[in-house]
Amino acid sequence: MTYDLVICGSRVVTGAEVVECDIGIRDGRIATLGHDLGPAKDVIKAAGLIAMPGGIDSHVHISQPSGPGIEMADDFASATRSAACGGNTTVMPFCLPEEGASLRQAVNAYHAKADGQCHVDVSFHLIIKDTDAQTLGQDLPALFEAGYTSFKVFMTYAGLALSDREILDVMDVAKTHNAMVMVHAENEDAIEFLRDKAEASGNTGPIHHARTRPVPVEREATHRAITLAEIAGVPLTIVHVSNGAALEEITRARRRGAKVFAETCPQYITLTADDLDRAGFEGAKYVCSPPPRDSVEQAAIWAGLEQGDFDLFSSDHCPFRFADDAGKDAPGARATFRNIPNGIPGVETRLPILFSEGVMKGRISLPRFAAITATNHARLYGLAPRKGAIAVGADADITLWDPTLTNKIRQADLHHGSDYTPWEGFSVTGWPVRTILRGRTVAKDGEIVGAATGDYLSRSAPELML
Ligand code: URP
Ligand code: ZN
Ligand code: ZN
Ligand code: ZN
Repeated sequence: MTYDLVICGSRVVTGAEVVECDIGIRDGRIATLGHDLGPAKDVIKAAGLIAMPGGIDSHVHISQPSGPGIEMADDFASATRSAACGGNTTVMPFCLPEEGASLRQAVNAYHAKADGQCHVDVSFHLIIKDTDAQTLGQDLPALFEAGYTSFKVFMTYAGLALSDREILDVMDVAKTHNAMVMVHAENEDAIEFLRDKAEASGNTGPIHHARTRPVPVEREATHRAITLAEIAGVPLTIVHVSNGAALEEITRARRRGAKVFAETCPQYITLTADDLDRAGFEGAKYVCSPPPRDSVEQAAIWAGLEQGDFDLFSSDHCPFRFADDAGKDAPGARATFRNIPNGIPGVETRLPILFSEGVMKGRISLPRFAAITATNHARLYGLAPRKGAIAVGADADITLWDPTLTNKIRQADLHHGSDYTPWEGFSVTGWPVRTILRGRTVAKDGEIVGAATGDYLSRSAPELML
């Protein structure tokens, strides 16, 4: 039988191995891995390239309600263009209800925003900010059954943060349904205390965002989130881990048998709090939570990546426009760090940064790269075996990498809606030159190919053995 596409001669990252072989694709799926595959309607000659499972970024924020007068810089079209050009084939944004809206209404609203707009496949996590009977008793169980199998809870941000009791109540629903709970672990009371003191002393610049969210704020909340999960008897994922002390809480819990998964992001291996102290109002470009730390914590995060303590490497793409912060009125309404929206853009640069800093610098192997950028995301969030691996029967979601290309990251070359990148001028070796979604090229050499053909993905329960 004729293949729709054969990718010829690349090194293919399949699970724990890297093998030189051809990939035969039919009807959007991987049909054969081998040699001399026979007739094909289309052939990509890929000698010298590396075929990797298409990136799955399980932590992105798109078109999320962000407070009065604040608009996210990406809609689903721009965010997924950026994702595809950065080597991703699936992204997983969060559904956050607008003030007064139910979780079900939020999900419907997100589908309306995403439908027909996406250049990669998409699936939604749910943010639980209300724990009323309708949400926990009706909406959440029904949505779980409909394939929304992961919920994020926040321990910080006024209006989002849940109490310990509320987190336990959410975890109890997750336990009944085998859902994955994702936790943003920072102690809100401690942050408010430090923020009030900073502002009272006139310390309002972007650097004080980092200084009022020091490591203990995250370490304590990480410990508490794990403790709550142990009490409720559920697995959990600690997202965006920024430092060694928080990671130590996770590795210690694992040693006593707790099912705790850990995610980190490019900002915690490449940026530091000094970036928030840049001259003028430039520091606002680096405001995210938890904040970037210092070279000691970067080394601790690298050690965790090298030793396999991290399961997931995500972007936490959360795009805003610098001009909205520092525009004509600067230093205007947002000139105090309290009012700078938290989050940085990064869906397009996540994979090149880890490939260059991790694989090319010899810190992690190609299979490990594939695991923490794709395979584990699919397993942990219920998309495997369809997604996340180059394997017979899986969707033909494949990214071709040229390991010899050197590049400087430039805002001018990116496709997101933000008006800056925190990695302007950052040098990388290795670049995703072609992104293939279900057998069709959706991005090539930094540009989108074809119409928006991304699908919505309903998910199963998490796989807990990674
Ligand atoms: O600063 C961040 N990380 N913004 C995105 C929202 C979140 O907490 O993940
Ligand atoms: Zn061959
Ligand atoms: Zn978060
Ligand atoms: Zn986030």
